[in-house]
Amino acid sequence: MKARIIGTGSYLPERIMTNFDLEQMVDTSHDWIVARTGIKERRIAAEGECTSDMATIAAQRALDMAGIKAEDIDLIVMGTITGDYPWPATACIIQAKLGAQNAFAYDLSAACSGFLYALSAANDYLANGRGKRALVIGAETLSRIVDWTDRNTCVLFGDGAGAVVLEAQDGESGILSTHLHSDGNYLELLYQPGFGSRNPSSPEGVDARLPYLKMQGNEVFKVAVRSLTDVSKEALDANGFSSADVGLFIPHQANLRILEATAKRLELTEEQNFINVDKYGNTSGATIPIAMDEAFRQGLLKEGDLLLSAAFGGGFTWASALIRW
Ligand code: ACO
Repeated sequence: MKARIIGTGSYLPERIMTNFDLEQMVDTSHDWIVARTGIKERRIAAEGECTSDMATIAAQRALDMAGIKAEDIDLIVMGTITGDYPWPATACIIQAKLGAQNAFAYDLSAACSGFLYALSAANDYLANGRGKRALVIGAETLSRIVDWTDRNTCVLFGDGAGAVVLEAQDGESGILSTHLHSDGNYLELLYQPGFGSRNPSSPEGVDARLPYLKMQGNEVFKVAVRSLTDVSKEALDANGFSSADVGLFIPHQANLRILEATAKRLELTEEQNFINVDKYGNTSGATIPIAMDEAFRQGLLKEGDLLLSAAFGGGFTWASALIRW
């Protein structure tokens, strides 16, 4: 019994913010952003539009593709660091919006690795025969935690949502393995200092910078390339495959240079390496399900293809999944 992806969906907000728009906001340039990150534009949620709104649309699109009704879902797992509220789980809000009344729902926090962590949790549940169908979601409204006066970070991120429907099936297709790692020693290289129990909001208010994402980009970069490479090799080795067997590699879309350096170390060709970071920037937990949906709808994923996916993010966390499509 394997958990197989039987539907994919995504949603990107309408508003496009280009690098030229950012030139008007901070001391940066289109050329610098493209040369250092490969990002040309990103999507920004409309006023009042939040993570559950985007995720519900993406999830409904995945359900429609799968031909499954929301009430047939047993489990909703959501990877996000920008839920609608600190609690309760945004997955529960999505459950209500979809009418998935027979499911239980929860969020998990693994930053940019959130979707693969969620996929792993749902896979374990279904592969153990505890349920038949799961909805796995990655969705973020990072524009609400980005410091729009900090050129080191604000040029990198965007908003969006992606989802897949998993079904437990017999046969060759499905998730072959997942591998998860974390190392909490790197906390302060990538985190959001405010609004938790360490730096709570208070009647006096918090330091104006605390609610925003903080990152030491070049330190993150080095560990990211190493970890993405290692966890991808781990997935291939565990299943007796080499990079030549991979039909498509979908890495977390953080930065073109990270993606190219990782693909080079893994000896993957340009054709194997799926890239859309130029259009959407880094949408954290949403990049991989958005990319899966785009790749599938573009005909880049066919039945029997081997899909390798890997992510790296705050925590630090990193993860991979090997999937027979
Ligand atoms: N425009 C112009 N100049 C800039 C900008 C900008 N937007 N941002 C930084 N600079 C400047 C810096 O101030 C610095 O100037 P200085 O030399 O005068 O001090 C110079 O550019 C070089 O800065 P670096 O940080 O060394 O540049 P680097 O080549 O490392 O690129 C970047 C920065 C793009 C952030 C890169 O390090 C990176 O992509 N890191 C990975 C980040 C990432 O992917 N994080 C997400 C992980 S996932 C998650 O969980 C959210």
